Amino acid sequence: KRHLISAADLTRDDALLVLDTAEELARLADRPIKKLPTLRGRTVVNLFFEDSTRTRISFEAAAKRLSADVINFSAKGSSVSKGESLKDTALTLEAMGADAVVIRHHSSGAPHRLATSGWIGGSVVNAGDGTHEHPTQALLDAFTMRRHLSGPGRDLAGRRVTIVGDVLHSRVARSNVHLLGTLGAQVTLVAPPTLLPVGVETWPCEVSYDLDGVLAKSDAVMMLRVQSERMNAAFFPTEREYSRRYGLDGTRMAAMPEHAIVMHPGPMNRGMEITAEVADSPRCTVVEQVANGVSIRMSVLYLLLGGSESAISAVRPEEG
Ligand code: CP
Repeated sequence: KRHLISAADLTRDDALLVLDTAEELARLADRPIKKLPTLRGRTVVNLFFEDSTRTRISFEAAAKRLSADVINFSAKGSSVSKGESLKDTALTLEAMGADAVVIRHHSSGAPHRLATSGWIGGSVVNAGDGTHEHPTQALLDAFTMRRHLSGPGRDLAGRRVTIVGDVLHSRVARSNVHLLGTLGAQVTLVAPPTLLPVGVETWPCEVSYDLDGVLAKSDAVMMLRVQSERMNAAFFPTEREYSRRYGLDGTRMAAMPEHAIVMHPGPMNRGMEITAEVADSPRCTVVEQVANGVSIRMSVLYLLLGGSESAISAVRPEEG
């Protein structure tokens, strides 16, 4: 595949290739020489029309660890604020010779538009578009779950993942439902009825309104950020009511099986969907997810920009 727009586009084999390649790259990059020569001479552009901490930094780190040149573009402070269109911005990047464009955009569908427009010749990677998808987040979440939960064969089949909170505005939830379904996990969404999208009954997952009823049956509990900036006040119960019914605190965490992990894509609203006690507990993988994000993004860039299993092997001697 040339682009990564949606987790729904990934077959099981595609997803396993990204995850296994990320494991291999994590092993290689963890050795004393952290930089691999694999993408030397290639240019990766980070095109961010919406704020980001984790995704932008980890794509930059991933590209640099593969020796690519990186251009960071943020809409704030650019000619976008003078009204320049996505097309003209893309044509400008194309003139700079971008081999891959990593795009975050407030409009669902912007990465797809970029990939199919012909404005740029390189690969397009969706780093989060509106409320649509965030495929590399789902991949790094699956990578983290495999490390904690998988037995022989490193398979997530049959694992039970509960995703809790503001599903309506969450591109992370949508990508996770698709990817985890492809990998054979059983996903349950827990949310207030007003924070579930129209048509959720057609998604490949269960829906529940009772967090306490599902915690004891969960291998991983993924808390979602309440996205106040996208929120219509009419959709939202009071903060206190939300935390009481859908927040994860120490008492609820104690009801989870001993092996179960707590996940959060970040940024967290401490005191809203997750208490500080849970966020700072050893069962919470939020910081580990960020570190794993670098390996996943290395894998995605490596595979899209022409890597192969044999090319990974080929870099090993230089690492020695
Ligand atoms: N998880 C995530 O996408 O975080 P950022 O918005 O900080 O990139």
